[in-house]
Amino acid sequence: KRQENIRNFSIIAHIDHGKSSLADRLLENTRSVEGRDMKAQLLDSMDIERERGITIKLNAVRLKYTAEDGEEYTFHLIDTPGHVDFSYEVSRSLAACEGAVLVVDAAQGIEAQTLANVYLALDNDLELIPVVNKIDLPAADPDRVGAEIEDVIGLPKEDSIHASAKANIGIEEILERIVKDVPAPAGDPEAPLKALIFDSVFDPYRGVISSIRIMDGAVKAGDKIRMMATGKEFEVSEVGINTPKQLAVDELTVGDVGYISASIKRVGDSLVGDTITGADNPAEAPLQGYKKMNPMVFCGMYPIDSAKYNDLREALEKLELNDSSLQYEPETSQALGFGFRTGFLGLLHMEIVQERIEREFGIDLIATAPSVIYSVDLTDGTTISVDNPAQMPDPQKTERIQEPYVKAQIMVPNDYVGAVMELCQKKRGNFMTMDYLDDVRVNIIYEIPLSEIVFDFFDQLKSNTKGYASLDYDLIGYKESKLVKMDILLNSEKVDALSFIVHKDFAYDRGKAIVEKLKKIIPRQQFEVPIQAAIGQKIVSRTNIKSMGKNVLSKCYGGDITRKKKLLEKQKEGKKKMKAVGSVEIPQEAFLAVLKMD
Ligand code: GTP
Repeated sequence: KRQENIRNFSIIAHIDHGKSSLADRLLENTRSVEGRDMKAQLLDSMDIERERGITIKLNAVRLKYTAEDGEEYTFHLIDTPGHVDFSYEVSRSLAACEGAVLVVDAAQGIEAQTLANVYLALDNDLELIPVVNKIDLPAADPDRVGAEIEDVIGLPKEDSIHASAKANIGIEEILERIVKDVPAPAGDPEAPLKALIFDSVFDPYRGVISSIRIMDGAVKAGDKIRMMATGKEFEVSEVGINTPKQLAVDELTVGDVGYISASIKRVGDSLVGDTITGADNPAEAPLQGYKKMNPMVFCGMYPIDSAKYNDLREALEKLELNDSSLQYEPETSQALGFGFRTGFLGLLHMEIVQERIEREFGIDLIATAPSVIYSVDLTDGTTISVDNPAQMPDPQKTERIQEPYVKAQIMVPNDYVGAVMELCQKKRGNFMTMDYLDDVRVNIIYEIPLSEIVFDFFDQLKSNTKGYASLDYDLIGYKESKLVKMDILLNSEKVDALSFIVHKDFAYDRGKAIVEKLKKIIPRQQFEVPIQAAIGQKIVSRTNIKSMGKNVLSKCYGGDITRKKKLLEKQKEGKKKMKAVGSVEIPQEAFLAVLKMD
């Protein structure tokens, strides 16, 4: 009886279309939380996340809803992260559901992430409930958007619920439709345990807390469990539900969504997508869809103060407990000293980690420009992976270089098609297809090197389309490219941390641009500093940073020691984000200069 009254669902939407606002309304309208307990957007739990206004960590909450048919239903609302870096996590949270509420902004219509999320939902056979949100807006055109949902996604426009999370319109209707349209969970309560892990976070007191959906069987405290991907076994210390506060329960059974803890020390032992089964009575096969996540973007991270190297290692160790897709290994740079080569799912993931290290651990960092992984066939017949441009082998030893490509889907009003195509062309994209979504909006598909997407693509796309374009992309594999390594020499010395990989056809212009840019960024020194860009032995561009002329201290005549100290202090302050490389002081900005080039 109980199983029939469970409904497991997510809300999927493009960024800013109102997912969190709608979740809040559903929570309020089911009286799951007291009004005064309610922080704005309750499901977003991390600070940084709230500041950036995007959902990074997943969560699930149990709601009670008494429907028009008089029955009480148990809803599990599963939150999904809203960024392309985390699409695997999204797909695993959706796998924990039978349905999804598809939110589309009544003024904006379908955007790139709307479609990307719809595909993920369809992959998981979810029942979709279309909701046209923000109908209170003066610019809202819910009929047009309803028609667009019918044309593009194939959900009849009569099925779309017109709603406003802000004005509290349509919320009851959404709750009723969840009852009627989303199927109750299938699954056998008597079968061996199969539980899907769709999120894992590390708690310093209790170890890893994983969010799970029970597909078959049941689990309770004291049970011995096994992680099917890693084979590791643990004893369950607690199972519970989020109301949204964590509440321990005796047992989670088939169809339930809740959390489990089992004195697990690192999230790497309770991986998103893995299946938990009973150690004594294991299921025959795991649930489908588990993938080991591999980082796609790498950068070097170096403490500005070399004495903080060990602190940085400890910070990375701590973060890794909570982040199974973060990778790092020690790396030495001639220019920057001892640091780590760190790998991330994408740029946002990288920025979040860097920010946390600086903010939570108080370590000032120099981070080198992000790089993708190149696959390099050497003349001796071997193939190597290169995630650090400085380590790209000499051209004479290289047979061919391949780089990762993505399929990029860009949606834009047709006035901006020209601007988008120009940008994609400039970024070495290959045009694939272009379709009209309705009479004004176009979906454009390009294949583009991941490195070009990583470097500033999104910002340029936004500025070239006045913010109207939306972007989503998927990795499609490796393709050969004519790439070369560009080295930067300061004072005739190669600065390994400034090396980058560039396409042959753009090498000369890039070399020139970067040298000019560095000249602006690197402050004048006591002496003239030549800057050169070189490919192998060949210098492709050079310029000089003029010397500074006079020393700060020459302003104080003689003995006023406190004044002198103050000046030195001030100078130090200015140098905060600088690293001495040989005899030259280089600011952090210089390492990222290569990213912001045209
Ligand atoms: P991410 O967390 O960034 O993915 O965004 P989201 O989809 O969760 O959107 P969110 O709920 O944060 O809403 C985005 C903005 O739209 C906020 O400023 C909301 O106040 C506003 N908004 C949400 N729903 C409505 C609505 O029905 N009407 C109006 N006028 N504004 C709304």
